[in-house]
Amino acid sequence: MITAPDPFPILGIDYIEFYVGNARQAAHYYKALGFTPVAYAGLETGSRDRASYCVRQGEINLVFTGAMHSESGIARHVGDHGDGVYDVALRVPDAAESYSAAVSRGATGVSPPETFEDDRGKVVRASIATYGETIHSLVSRDGYSGAFMPGFSSLEAGDTKGFGIRYVDHVVGNVELGKMNEWVSFYERIMGFTELVHFSDDDISTEYSALMSKVVWSGEGKIKFPINEPAQGKRKSQIEEYLDYYGSPGVQHIAMASEDIVGTVESMRAAGLDFLQIPDTYYQDARERVPEIEPQLNDLARNGILVDKDEDGHLLQIFSKPVQDRPTVFYEVIERHGARGFGAGNFKALFEAIERDQALRGNL
Ligand code: FE2
Repeated sequence: MITAPDPFPILGIDYIEFYVGNARQAAHYYKALGFTPVAYAGLETGSRDRASYCVRQGEINLVFTGAMHSESGIARHVGDHGDGVYDVALRVPDAAESYSAAVSRGATGVSPPETFEDDRGKVVRASIATYGETIHSLVSRDGYSGAFMPGFSSLEAGDTKGFGIRYVDHVVGNVELGKMNEWVSFYERIMGFTELVHFSDDDISTEYSALMSKVVWSGEGKIKFPINEPAQGKRKSQIEEYLDYYGSPGVQHIAMASEDIVGTVESMRAAGLDFLQIPDTYYQDARERVPEIEPQLNDLARNGILVDKDEDGHLLQIFSKPVQDRPTVFYEVIERHGARGFGAGNFKALFEAIERDQALRGNL
């Protein structure tokens, strides 16, 4: 069988960059999620306008960047959105080629291809705009052997196995009411993604709130981007709460894959990360829905880990509380056993847990 060439080859997520109020402290906080600081750029390395720390766990690179001056675009971004995701950077074979392909298909260019070089090699990077003020950098590395990027110094990390997180499973965006389909077709048109699954407000609704969600993914399945929009409910939906506090569309959560979710979650909780609380009654019906979990049931229940099943297998997942002052970005840890879904069977229990916290914040 002859298959058409991938219209937009992507090798994986290269890094995810946050603009934050204090990069040094943010990088330290992520030790509670098992990340190790591996690279730094700041005044000492010749970076005059910003400080950036790259932290790593498994294949995941997170970058925290803070501004040196109030007139900086980074400072303005933090003022508008609070700490949040600025860049979901995609690793591609040829950044210049990907950039011109994206722009020719209608993407908005943010920065044209630029080559960064030091004695460890070179990295080429270009950027395009996506929802809200979020961007996708397109990064080609071609064997670059430095700690992160030219301009960064190495922090002598040693072991980056951390708490057993391996890679980014999916990155979820929240967009405004009525905009979900526009962004689904953006990824289809610009990057050749296809729609994997969608959930309507019938699937995802509680007494108070509802949302709609569609998932786009790349041809090889390496990238999965669910996109949510609020749906009509009795009270303010969790997506509206996010949009109100973030001030625009943006990244809602990052799901990180673990091979041992119980060990990962126990380590994170011991280090101070807070997770959503699930009522004990959840596990009475969970063992009937997903009998495969029986041997692990006590460990899962003790840690509040959720379970779901689809035609391909089952999955285990858990959600953190928001990790900054505003009720915006949070994390998911997921362990897949064949299942390709996103835990639709948990949406009701999960959203009720989110709404309990929303009510405590006075936002329900
Ligand atoms: Fe998720």
